[in-house]
Amino acid sequence: MHDLVIRNARILDGTGAPAFPGDLAVDGERIAAVGTVPTAGRREIDARGLTLCPGFIDTHSHDDGALLRVPEMRFKLAQGVTTVVNGNCGFSVAPAIGDARRMIASSAILALGDVPLAWDDLDGYREAVARARPAVNAIALVGMGTLRYAALGNHHGAPTAEALAQMRGWMARAMAQGACGLSTGLIYEPNRWAATEEIAALCEEIAPYGGVYATHMRDEGVGLLNSVEEALRIGELAGCAVHISHHKASGRAAWGLVDASLARIDAARAAGRDVTFDVYPYTASSTRLEALVRLGMLEEDPAAANLLRIAYCPGHPEYQGRTVQQLADAWNVSPAEAADTILSGPGRETLIISFSMDEGDVEANIRHPAAMIGSDGLPVLEGLPHPRLFGTFPRVLARYVRERGLVPLAEAVRRMTSLPAWRFGLAGRGVIAPGNFADLVLFDPETVRDTATWDDPMREPEGIALVVVNGAVAYENGHQTDARAGRLLRFRQES
Ligand code: ZN
Ligand code: CU
Repeated sequence: MHDLVIRNARILDGTGAPAFPGDLAVDGERIAAVGTVPTAGRREIDARGLTLCPGFIDTHSHDDGALLRVPEMRFKLAQGVTTVVNGNCGFSVAPAIGDARRMIASSAILALGDVPLAWDDLDGYREAVARARPAVNAIALVGMGTLRYAALGNHHGAPTAEALAQMRGWMARAMAQGACGLSTGLIYEPNRWAATEEIAALCEEIAPYGGVYATHMRDEGVGLLNSVEEALRIGELAGCAVHISHHKASGRAAWGLVDASLARIDAARAAGRDVTFDVYPYTASSTRLEALVRLGMLEEDPAAANLLRIAYCPGHPEYQGRTVQQLADAWNVSPAEAADTILSGPGRETLIISFSMDEGDVEANIRHPAAMIGSDGLPVLEGLPHPRLFGTFPRVLARYVRERGLVPLAEAVRRMTSLPAWRFGLAGRGVIAPGNFADLVLFDPETVRDTATWDDPMREPEGIALVVVNGAVAYENGHQTDARAGRLLRFRQES
């Protein structure tokens, strides 16, 4: 008797191979059999008309705090996501040392809320995750912003040899504790003060493990190509894989540059370099307003204020949903002055949505064989968050696979499952095969769709019938079960 048998599904195994009809059996946490399953299951599910594939892997998450604060993780689970990659864009909750502790505790991106910071290294965080029992799995990148705060605070210059050695030591320790690589967020302080060589030095600590350098690049606008060169250079200097985060061309003047950037990525790949990227299926980004102000965005381009909508403003919820320009008009001040007012006091952690991209660029990214899907959702469940937090994976399947036909379903599933499992070292996951972990999603490819919108962003998708995490049914037809079987995984170890 198996623990669970899913019968009569169309199975996409995650490798990109075509779907085949069959059954799947689960024993404990693992897949016991695939194909024809003669033995009965303690629980049997009829999947006629539905497609079964490995659980989706959200390659670009900021759920470090959410795993502890909202361990139900429903906004991801309901999309069919079974593993998230945390610690992106230079922000991670470990190591929590020195000045980094203050940043970690207060960051709206890490979204720890009232959760006490009861760890200093990745093993300590893993214990906190185990106590919280999240519904999904996670793997951790180490954020360079976190390392820099720990060693240097917000120092604007280069690190001393001693400080660099300290950061390298913390990086190496995190790799030994199961991190999958280093992330940067080179528009954010203090990460933006780091030079190319400094980043490469830290990447030398991940290279021996086969870890990945994941980067939110310095300039995603007209300087996009220079940024890609820097990322490739870092990979070359350190001898590690490079993964470009939320690849995009931001701002009208940069629209169309994605083609040239993808051509550069293709050339590097053809030359044998290991380069991949992630993308989210929307033409707007979302980040901290403060970061954009500090980069001088509103002084350089005051018209951008029309395209910046406030998603979340602690202390002033009445600003949420309004653009910076609307507030500037109401207050009869310039956009830069309005931003200063918004950011005063608790408003410092204000998050905005920026309508900055071209649909053609998004589609070029989604078509590319090295593209993975990463929501980049900021898990602040207040105000009007970017709908990517709730809708990313179903939106790719509905809009870009079914409606626009940009990518065949089996290939889209490969890029949501086996490809990211390989990239981020999720051993025994990402492919449906006997012996692998039973992280699964069952969905209807004809009806699956996102329902989260700009004005109603916290709506769950439709067409996701069943989600299984580590062998346990976690979500079924719109209902979350009390199974909370997720954990913080270790890079390239079955864990
Ligand atoms: Zn980012
Ligand atoms: Cu991000």
